[in-house]
Amino acid sequence: MSVNETSEPTRRDFLYIATGAAGAVGAAAAVWPFIDQMNPDAGTLALAAIEVNVSSVAPGQSITAKWRGKPVFIRQRTPEEVTAAQTVALADLKDPVARNENLPGDAPATDANRSAKGKEQWLVMVGVCTHLGCIPLGQSGPYNGWFCPCHGSAYDTAGRIRQGPAPQNMAIPPFEFISDTTVRVG
Ligand code: FES
Repeated sequence: MSVNETSEPTRRDFLYIATGAAGAVGAAAAVWPFIDQMNPDAGTLALAAIEVNVSSVAPGQSITAKWRGKPVFIRQRTPEEVTAAQTVALADLKDPVARNENLPGDAPATDANRSAKGKEQWLVMVGVCTHLGCIPLGQSGPYNGWFCPCHGSAYDTAGRIRQGPAPQNMAIPPFEFISDTTVRVG
C-alpha cells in the first residue's frame, strides 16, 4: 500500500468529523438568536420581562433563555418526570420551601408549587446553583433533573435540591403562560 492510499482515509475522516462538528454548532446556534432577539437592550434590562416562544420544545427537552443577566431553564417534562417529582415525600426534601416568586414565601415545595399552574409539565426556573452559583447541567444527575458539576449538587425533575452542598431549591422566577406557547418571565 502506498503512502497516498493510507493517508487518504485519514483526510476523509477529518472532513467527516469537521462536518459533524459544524452541524452541532449550527443546531445550538438556532436556539440562541431567537431567544436573544426577545431580550431587551441593556438600558431596560433591569426592569424588563421577556417573552419566550416554547412551541418548539418537545417533552423531554428544554431551552435556556436569558433574563436579567441570568439563565432561565424552561423545560417541558415528560409524564414520567412529572410523576417522579410528584411522588417525592416532602419529608425527603432537603429544602421543603417552594422558592417560587409567584407564591407566598412559606409555600411548601410540592411539585404543583414548583411547576406552571395548569401546565404542570412545564418548569420555568432560574438556572443557577444555590451553592456558589454555577450553571447546572440539565437532564442529568442521579435524579435526572439537573446536576451541578462544580461541587456535585443534584436536583430532581422539579429543580429541588436532593444531594450535595447546595442549600436551596433553584429559584422559580415570576412568570406566566400568556398563551399556549408563550411564557412571559419577569
Ligand atoms: S456551585 Fe453548584 S455545587 Fe457548588
